[in-house]
Amino acid sequence: ETKPRLPVLWLHGLECTCCSESFIRSSHPIAADIVLNMISLDYDDTLMAAAGDQAEENRRRIMKDYKGQYIVAVEGNAPTRDGGVYCTIGGETFLSILKETCADAKAVIAWGSCASNGCVQAAKPNPTGATPVHEIIHDKPVINVPGCPPIAEVMTGVITYILTFDALPELDRFGRPKMFYGQRIHDKCYRRAFFDAGQFVENWDDEGARKGWCLYKMGCRGPMTYNSCSTMKWNNGVSFPIGSGHPCIGCSEENFWDNGPFYQR
Ligand code: SF4
Ligand code: SF4
Ligand code: F3S
Repeated sequence: ETKPRLPVLWLHGLECTCCSESFIRSSHPIAADIVLNMISLDYDDTLMAAAGDQAEENRRRIMKDYKGQYIVAVEGNAPTRDGGVYCTIGGETFLSILKETCADAKAVIAWGSCASNGCVQAAKPNPTGATPVHEIIHDKPVINVPGCPPIAEVMTGVITYILTFDALPELDRFGRPKMFYGQRIHDKCYRRAFFDAGQFVENWDDEGARKGWCLYKMGCRGPMTYNSCSTMKWNNGVSFPIGSGHPCIGCSEENFWDNGPFYQR
């Protein structure tokens, strides 16, 4: 309560905005607490009241007044082909806005699979040259928070960790916080006993599907996907894809769109 609120500039490149949709549904802590009491969200194309020149002025003022102290949160990635023309904001390419804004940042958070590893925009043949943040920003720590989108409480958890400890969370070799991406979906999946017993769903409406058996033979990528879905779950801990009878499609893994087909049999 006595510390000044951490300035955050939240940028949006090539993305679908569902990472923001996920973030605003965080229940512990609630997103409103983060935005109104814990950080100072000084720029965010989707959540700010300011617009146009006023918004851009504000972004540049924060960069100057809080040099080396602010966090850049990035949702989406930057198209780099043809000078970056495939994503422009206020007449500037997102590529140049990203580089300019990160230049004096303390650290960068790459929200979601778009920012962390390219996601669908970077799927072959990647016509716009969509490039994840860590391949563009090399001189600042980049925290990758993959998932399409990431779990709401993982997003707010990363911010809470930075605020609480005044340090960045420990990262794995892919730049992901170990505390949220240290285990595979398969390691904690409630259907794991069926996997071990060799009881598999073999058709969407077979007996195994009705009994909740393992989805491995329906293409589940839980055994090779690192995320917190089988422990923290989604929607305030209600469920996750496998809990709804659908295999994990590995949405937090690099190049998951090119690792298909999703419904491998
Ligand atoms: Fe949308 Fe997925 Fe990209 Fe997030 S990672 S902006 S949910 S496409
Ligand atoms: Fe593993 Fe998927 Fe089977 Fe769960 S449903 S036990 S994650 S293969
Ligand atoms: Fe994504 Fe698999 Fe979780 S598809 S939401 S990582 S269960």
